[in-house]
Amino acid sequence: MVKESNDYPCIQVSNLRKEYGGKRIALNGISFSVDYGKVFGFLGPNGAGKSTTIKILTTLLNPSAGNVFIFGKDVIKQASDIRKKIGVVSQQPSSENNLTVERALDLYGLLWGIKGNARYAKVNEIIDAFDLQEIRKTKNDELSIGQKRRVQVAREFMHDMDLLFLDEPTVGLDPSARRMLLDYIKKQVKSGLTVFFTTHIMEEAEYLCDEVAIINRGKIIAFDTPNGLKHKYSENNIIDLKVKDATALSILPRINNIAYDSKIEINGVNGFKIKSVNSQQILTKIMEDFSKNNIKIDSITIEPASLEDVFLNMVNNK
Ligand SMILES: Nc1ncnc2c1ncn2[C@@H]1O[C@H](COP(=O)(O)OP(=O)(O)OP(=O)(O)O)[C@@H](O)[C@H]1O
Ligand SMILES: [Mg+2]
Repeated sequence: MVKESNDYPCIQVSNLRKEYGGKRIALNGISFSVDYGKVFGFLGPNGAGKSTTIKILTTLLNPSAGNVFIFGKDVIKQASDIRKKIGVVSQQPSSENNLTVERALDLYGLLWGIKGNARYAKVNEIIDAFDLQEIRKTKNDELSIGQKRRVQVAREFMHDMDLLFLDEPTVGLDPSARRMLLDYIKKQVKSGLTVFFTTHIMEEAEYLCDEVAIINRGKIIAFDTPNGLKHKYSENNIIDLKVKDATALSILPRINNIAYDSKIEINGVNGFKIKSVNSQQILTKIMEDFSKNNIKIDSITIEPASLEDVFLNMVNNK
């Protein structure tokens, strides 16, 4: 996988708009860029515009306005150059029903111009990597839905590419197949692949993505690293505090005083959960106050907001 040129990002999108039938606005002016070698997660609720974006970036659909450059090439004027170096797993299922899994993989390699022995070796590599041994001689139309999806994703790795688009690739996959796919993607990224990935599963985004964008109603409402997002929108951080040699009830007036603008819950006989926007500051104040007054702390931690909390907050508040 050879990098095109470091002068351009791998993906550059500016003011992209898409109206279906001239009236339904699916994308309302989105801009972002993705550097080579990164995994970019595109998150958003149903109907937000994720698949529309992927279709435009993979040259399958024309934008209504705006500019899209892939490898520095214009998605409309240089579509065929772009197509040669990208892979796409669309959200729609697709398979070669009458072929066995290994024949389907072989055909896919043939379509991409991979020659004889190299193709044979690649088919075996992919069958191993995606744990398809048991079904290699089974016809696609005799597979379960999850098995079909696995084959659909696996076949895309038959050919070499610089950039891979995956539209909800893990839907229908069992936990080990999902983990296997995410780890296989990670491995490919280490050897230079760039990945554009959509999912509704926030743990997946956290596990895999270097950067994420949240899209809602055709607009990007956040762009950051998964950790950056969690820090920026940390309204849901929770302090988990346990005291020693004292009951929570006896300490409650102090906590009320220190964290007067937080949501305080008593947690067991000697514990509290304190939900706060400035949890770091409150944690410091508690430590100072307790130390002055000889109150012993058994444990105190801050549980960061999960990406799912951030997502739900953002999407429901806009
Ligand atoms: N072919 C089409 N014709 C008309 N409207 C469409 C078409 N495809 C998508 N839309 C509309 O565009 C908007 C964005 O759809 P899109 O498929 O991009 O959403 P998505 O983020 O991929 O959602 P999901 O998570 O459900 O896959 C939606 O309002 C949808 O109804
Ligand atoms: Mg979609």
